[in-house]
Amino acid sequence: MNGTPPTSDRIMMLINGYWATGIIGASASHSVFTHLEAGADTAVLLAARAGISERGARTLLDGLVSLGLVEAHDGRYRNSPDAATYLVDGRPECLSDFARLKMGHMGALSDLPDVVRAGEPLTNAVVEVADNPHWERLVTAIAAQSAPVAAIAAETLRLADAGEISILDVGGGSGVYSATWLKLNPAARATQLDWRPINAIAARRLADQGVADRFTCIDGDFHTTDFGTAAYDVAVYSHIAHQESPEDNIEIFARLRDALKPGGTLVLNDYVVTDDRGGPPFALVFGAEMLLKSRHGGTWRRADYQSWLTKAGFTDVTFQSTPSPATLVFAR
Ligand SMILES: C[S@@+](CC[C@H](N)C(=O)[O-])C[C@H]1O[C@@H](n2cnc3c(N)ncnc32)[C@H](O)[C@@H]1O
Repeated sequence: MNGTPPTSDRIMMLINGYWATGIIGASASHSVFTHLEAGADTAVLLAARAGISERGARTLLDGLVSLGLVEAHDGRYRNSPDAATYLVDGRPECLSDFARLKMGHMGALSDLPDVVRAGEPLTNAVVEVADNPHWERLVTAIAAQSAPVAAIAAETLRLADAGEISILDVGGGSGVYSATWLKLNPAARATQLDWRPINAIAARRLADQGVADRFTCIDGDFHTTDFGTAAYDVAVYSHIAHQESPEDNIEIFARLRDALKPGGTLVLNDYVVTDDRGGPPFALVFGAEMLLKSRHGGTWRRADYQSWLTKAGFTDVTFQSTPSPATLVFAR
């Protein structure tokens, strides 16, 4: 036989993938990464600082070493560079809230075999329904993924120096794009269209960041609410295209084109897959989330975005990778 013989080790790790969700979620719940960063570098110190048992601390550290999020050296532990950047509390890009949220989603996966047979969710608890309470926890958790992407988009579009621009964020959620861009550009104004309870969350967060006076909300369904005509310099549609059907995305992109001033830019951000559906890995597995939770959603290819945006009247489409699993798409 050529090379190394196959082993079951990787398959066993994957079959037990929910341990990763549990270990990261439990570690986030007890701020393990934050305590490690602050120097609690043994199980004994970590247990004391986090207020957890020593047996629990040792178990989490072993699990985190196995997952590559913590490094062990001579009986002492430290965060990996990824964990130090994305799992220490208090940073805008901290994914701990998302990790805690995902622990509560594990049970739903037992429906997946039946959902795969049916080709759609088994219940009406889908993302498309109005005012779905699912969004209230999700939007603040997903803000950590969107914050660095919003900063990158601002740099690409040079929004800080763009003067008196107006921004429309459709399905803006926590208001993370508006908050990031209004702080960078003191002359900019932003409007967010989302469900009323979500807009209330965004308004609170923008007030906390001192930019509420330049932030307006429109409550409603983006399928039926008018976006206006030639009113905005920049429009955003982030982490939404994956929940919509191709037809609805084209229709929404066309209305966004009309809402933009001539020369305005549409900023899309989503888990985009390559045209041959060979990657990237996160975007490929995310399709299962949309099968479970949406009637028509999926992970769409670059070619899909290109074709839908062209049909909607955009002539210049560019893609930009980000340090998150999502890809930015700029259309003019
Ligand atoms: C996955 S979150 C994305 C939030 C934000 N754009 C971001 O990238 O961080 C989806 C957002 O779209 C909103 N949304 C979903 N369907 C909607 C609809 N039909 N009308 C208005 N808002 C909707 C949700 O309330 C939520 O805020």
